[in-house]
Amino acid sequence: MSASTSAPANSAPVAHNALPPPSTSSAARSSRIAPHSHIKGLGLSPEGFANLDTAGFIGQNNAREACGVVVDLVKSRKFSGRALLLAGAPGTGKTALALAISHELGAKVPFCPMVGSEVYSTEVKKTEVLAEVFRRAIGLRIKETKEVYEGEVTELTPSESENPLSGYGKTVSHVIVGLKTVKGTKQLRLDPSIYEAILKEKIVVGDVIYVEANTGAVKRVGRSDAYASSYDLESETYVPLPKGDVHKRKELVQDVTLGDLDAANARPQGGQDIMSVMGSLVKSGRTEVTDKLRREVNKVVKSYVDQGVAEVVPGVVFIDEVHMLDIECFTYLNALLESPMAPTVIFATNRGNALVRGTTDVISPHGIPVDLLDRCLIVKTDSYTREQVSKVVQLRANVEGLKFGDGVLDKLAGEGEKSSLRYALQLLTPASILASLAGRTQIDIDDISEMNELFLDAKTSASMISESGAAFGS
Ligand SMILES: Nc1ncnc2c1ncn2[C@@H]1O[C@H](COP(=O)(O)OP(=O)(O)OP(=O)(O)O)[C@@H](O)[C@H]1O
Ligand SMILES: [Mg+2]
Repeated sequence: MSASTSAPANSAPVAHNALPPPSTSSAARSSRIAPHSHIKGLGLSPEGFANLDTAGFIGQNNAREACGVVVDLVKSRKFSGRALLLAGAPGTGKTALALAISHELGAKVPFCPMVGSEVYSTEVKKTEVLAEVFRRAIGLRIKETKEVYEGEVTELTPSESENPLSGYGKTVSHVIVGLKTVKGTKQLRLDPSIYEAILKEKIVVGDVIYVEANTGAVKRVGRSDAYASSYDLESETYVPLPKGDVHKRKELVQDVTLGDLDAANARPQGGQDIMSVMGSLVKSGRTEVTDKLRREVNKVVKSYVDQGVAEVVPGVVFIDEVHMLDIECFTYLNALLESPMAPTVIFATNRGNALVRGTTDVISPHGIPVDLLDRCLIVKTDSYTREQVSKVVQLRANVEGLKFGDGVLDKLAGEGEKSSLRYALQLLTPASILASLAGRTQIDIDDISEMNELFLDAKTSASMISESGAAFGS
């Protein structure tokens, strides 16, 4: 009897694994990056000059060239212990520059943006928030050659048998999986625990999968492109039929971040996917990411790197509105910058001289204490000309698939010059909604004028309030 209860009990933790691995709030991240989707890089010539408006970047030549130098320094590992500070008025492309730098550093480089004020929370210590962002910005590429069975699934038949130990129902005794490659086919008879993994990964006939020979871990690579059809979901990835034998040695590459590893080790789940395996690097009963746990994870990671199994990919931490941090955070940042595995750090601010938060009398440039400022290379962003605003607006319109009627671009450029590039860009979406409500496919000049009456730009709003300030005051 005990055996019959132990069988489902054994499989229970596997099913429990259906919990997704800890995510790094990627949804929040992509929404923050979306307005910059036209930025593909710094757009510099091989000599490092920004004489053309390429890679989605318009003007801002000095800043782009300076950022190019920083990229070179980072690539030649001469930027450690330092940081880049982007200083300039709102809407002058500071966030866009930071993103472009991370693009230039490589496709799989983690980019972790945060806003200074994110450190203030009642649950988590300020320094803890910073430490976590820094860990998420260090990528780890793990390479392993493993014995696998890989191919397109041609058959998936669970074989049921009477459960000999209880009178009720049937259990899956094994599962027959047929795999096909260009070279041949093979039929595997697999353990029922693998069947659960197959169900979990939602694998069906026609998918390309591989099964690790030693662990039995199953991974779906994608849908075989023989099954590609026009009405399939766009999110599906199609892959060619694998070459070679079904049974072979394969190099597997997995990208994780130190932040992922910390989180996984703090909540070990058991199971077969890579995050669960990586989640049991360190044997700990802890449920919280502590400095000790991080040190232990570091130790294991270091040994992986020494053995050539893993490669560290330093990413980019971007702290916007850095003047919102306080003295405690700044002091901690000094320490983080010094740590051996530090990512590239970029700050942005639109403040001039300001009080350093958390002090009563320390006034410092950009609200950053001088000892940290000393480590920064400072790059200034300039405001845009009418012509440049018009080019950026046109770029965004192309990305968002919007069309302009006569004179619209000129009008928007004028608005941008008068207030800011940001304001001109912000008028785009509501104006397009107005146009589509009126049944037009292109934005007309009236839409812009109407939006202008409904909404105020920052400068107009401020001046209106100060004019009627007496009324507000009394
Ligand atoms: N030189 C440029 N070329 C193309 N697009 C740009 C350029 N500068 C800014 N943009 C775009 O304009 C918008 C506003 O720029 P961004 O958010 O980078 O400004 P910011 O300096 O970070 O402003 P804030 O201080 O308010 O955070 C974004 O959509 C950005 O992609
Ligand atoms: Mg910004």
